[in-house]
Amino acid sequence: MDTKLDTKLIQIEDTKKIKDEELSEAAAIIRRGGLVAFPTETVYGLGANALDEEAARKIYAAKGRPSDNPLIAHISCLKELEPLVSEIPEAGRKLAEKYWPGPLTMVFPKSEKVPYGTTGGLDTVAVRMPSDPVANRLIALAGVPIAAPSANTSGRPSPTMAEHVWQDMNGKIDMIIDGGPVGIGVESTIVDVSGEVPMLLRPGAVTMEMLRETVGRVEMDPAIQGPPKENLRPKAPGMKYRHYAPKAALTLVEGETDNVVAEINRLVKEHMAAGERVGVICTEETKERYPEGILRSIGVRSQEETIAHNLFAVLREFDDLQVDCIFSESFSKHDLGQAIMNRLTKAAGYHIIKV
Ligand code: TXA
Ligand code: MG
Repeated sequence: MDTKLDTKLIQIEDTKKIKDEELSEAAAIIRRGGLVAFPTETVYGLGANALDEEAARKIYAAKGRPSDNPLIAHISCLKELEPLVSEIPEAGRKLAEKYWPGPLTMVFPKSEKVPYGTTGGLDTVAVRMPSDPVANRLIALAGVPIAAPSANTSGRPSPTMAEHVWQDMNGKIDMIIDGGPVGIGVESTIVDVSGEVPMLLRPGAVTMEMLRETVGRVEMDPAIQGPPKENLRPKAPGMKYRHYAPKAALTLVEGETDNVVAEINRLVKEHMAAGERVGVICTEETKERYPEGILRSIGVRSQEETIAHNLFAVLREFDDLQVDCIFSESFSKHDLGQAIMNRLTKAAGYHIIKV
């Protein structure tokens, strides 16, 4: 049994002017095989030396994560990619040029340097170069690639602020770096560039349209387009888990806005009458239209970035409020909406009412 760690919380004074002294202890922890949670532009990550199998094992233990679910190796500049991969396919090179540093992860054939403990036994490795200045500086100072899944307990919504990480990881890791709330709020886009045609494994802020603009043909992993099917396994092992899930039963209501509002109000009434605590996820445009239930606005419908940014925090808030059930409006599936709806439908266990 691991002993409880004394988790240190440090605050970056000004993320636009990071001093190396602020990150030197964190970098030393990574180098000696410890765990440090840090901000990225997508969500907070839980970092360890990606080349150290024993350090990777600690990540799985802290998260309670199944060990067949591989980790993303984070790098700070392009020259750190080469030692990790056995080949850089043309599509990978083009996408790296266009979207790195940024919210894009690419899957490459791995080199011998990357241990199977990091890749969950796979012969490929997922690599990302984050643009967040704290993440970037930390990786550079550590001098090793940093393996980092989202810094939540496995199955909980990903953390978008240091406080979320504290809730899940206090006592389990060495340090949390608070760099303020993240920018994007949903995890990176994952594209497998190891095969003939690049394949989208997880939608994110770099959208399908953006990928196609850069490399032409891109396919979408069929297994992520609907509810889990027995003979259709997602190519990103993590996508098979009921992830991002709030504790309460979440139901999405889909359709024309007036009908959605009416149906959610009907459901709220019905469940409140049964004595339940009921949550509603609405938007700035609709929030005045729900007379009952515990309301949380997730953002501005016409500005998808605000919805992505608030999504996981709202799901966590409903956990804290201990509601029994949550009814949510649904959103467009275009552009960033594809990532939003991917996370929301998974959080809902694909429970969707169409009106
Ligand atoms: O935005 C992000 O990507 C965040 C920040 C911290 O960088 N990280 C993140 O990591 O979301 P995680 O571990 O929560 O999700 C990584 C996903 C999982 O679904 C995993 O199965 C998949 O990437 N993955 C990792 N390596 C892979 C590989 N070699 N082949 C296919 N999928 C892989
Ligand atoms: Mg995750």
